[in-house]
Amino acid sequence: MLIERPLTGTIGAEIEGVDLKQPISSDLAGELRDALDRRLVVFFRDQFIDVAQQKVLTRVFGPLARSTYIEGMPDDPFVIRVIKEAYEGGGVFGGDWHSDLSFLEQPPGGSVLNAVEVPPYGGDTLWASQVAAYEALPPDLRTVLDGRDAVHVGKPHGVKWAPPMETRMTGAIRIVRDDPTADEERSHPAVLTHPVTGRRSVYVNPIYVTRLDGMTEEESRPLLDRLRIHCIRPEFFCRFRWTAGTVAVWDNYSTLHYAVNDYAGFRRLMMRTTFSGRAIAEWRRATS
Ligand code: SIN
Repeated sequence: MLIERPLTGTIGAEIEGVDLKQPISSDLAGELRDALDRRLVVFFRDQFIDVAQQKVLTRVFGPLARSTYIEGMPDDPFVIRVIKEAYEGGGVFGGDWHSDLSFLEQPPGGSVLNAVEVPPYGGDTLWASQVAAYEALPPDLRTVLDGRDAVHVGKPHGVKWAPPMETRMTGAIRIVRDDPTADEERSHPAVLTHPVTGRRSVYVNPIYVTRLDGMTEEESRPLLDRLRIHCIRPEFFCRFRWTAGTVAVWDNYSTLHYAVNDYAGFRRLMMRTTFSGRAIAEWRRATS
């Protein structure tokens, strides 16, 4: 029997009573999807699964998706090694509040992160519920966002906003830069409605949203700045302390996440797989 241990009042749960090395029945798959829909990020400790078992788990939540803008493993483009070596300085992959690839026409539905090697301290990951953020929106921000699109641009991956050469991450992860298509604007609803739970969430990515539809970047900036501070309030997030063998699954539409870069001198290795989500049109249809 599944035991769900919530991490906070708003987001996250550890799930006990599951052995992810065993086949996943359709009943169990349904329970896992339900847990994810409600808790937005779920964790399974002490699993020590291999890549094949990780892919089986990933497919529970949606079709396996190939990574875009991040180079997969040479022998398996569906798997990314999220690695920071002990000797690496500088930034860390995912070290800013974001959701993944929201500038795509169809952003990924979510990801699975499998902890292979973790530092003795630090290297936590935070996930912020954008459902909780929506529910607590100040009325004036809610009025601005409801029924409006936000405009996303793949800034760090494009040409126009690419980071300067000397600040680009040089570590073990290969990120695609200088793709002119990433500079194109893409509109998505600023508020999504979950097609199953009906809960609304803010969908304004701090790193990719440049403006709100119908406004210039200058007009949008003060609103986006307020929104960014609001959406990552501690009441809305959980902070997860990894142990080797732990697996996390998150909903990429209803959360933001942040990898904490505080473990200099230690190696951290995670295997990451991604699943496609329900068409964003379904989330938009439900909103209007
Ligand atoms: C990410 O997927 O953004 C990185 C998460 C992590 O390494 O904790």
